[in-house]
Amino acid sequence: MFIDLHCHILPGIDDGAQNLKQAIAMVEMAIASGTKVMVATPHMHPGIYNNNPATIEAAYNTLKHAITQRELDIELRSAAEVHLCPEVMLWAQKGLLPFIGEYKHKSLLLLELPHGSVPQGTTSLVRWLHSNNIQVMIAHPERNHGIWKNPYQLSQLLKLGCLFQVTAGSFLGHFRQQAQNIAESLLKADSIHIVASDAHDLEKRPPDLREAFEQISLLSSEQHAKRLLWDNPAQMLGKH
Ligand SMILES: [Fe+2]
Repeated sequence: MFIDLHCHILPGIDDGAQNLKQAIAMVEMAIASGTKVMVATPHMHPGIYNNNPATIEAAYNTLKHAITQRELDIELRSAAEVHLCPEVMLWAQKGLLPFIGEYKHKSLLLLELPHGSVPQGTTSLVRWLHSNNIQVMIAHPERNHGIWKNPYQLSQLLKLGCLFQVTAGSFLGHFRQQAQNIAESLLKADSIHIVASDAHDLEKRPPDLREAFEQISLLSSEQHAKRLLWDNPAQMLGKH
């Protein structure tokens, strides 16, 4: 059984599920692969995906209603994948940040860095968030091209107290060799907090966690895989 804390399953509000039919097909695939809880995390990225708590709630209600009508056996929650941008501070102050859950009594934020780099200013934003009772979890650091060039940045982010979410497909070679190497070395160093699907569709980035669970079990242990795909996310969601 798995908990998926990062997926783009809400219909029509980002580059994930494009409509309700596709969203339902993704939910069915997740259920078939053993997922019990999904937290929908649409992009909040000013100028690209202009989501806010209201747009997310509306799409969530549509999908939740369809899941209930079809009696699908899954718990759906919603949060967001928030892009690193100056608006983050404003949103935090106005209470407009959707949080994944909690971590050590802090609100847990899934923060996305640009794909190509770890920009200057990341450190100060993370410090500001941490001092405002918001815990940062970095979305898929293993896929960041700046980190590929300078993996030392991973230890800097860990030293700042960031948590790491690694994408399931990175263990399966879906995101180039560099991403796989970093995912494996983070796993070996026990520096990953959760593994999630980051599902966007049914084919290229599907909501299937089982294969990654098996691969992590082989690379490390089944207990470790369970910690990343159930125990840690359950704790973040307040499920015991
Ligand atoms: Fe994502």
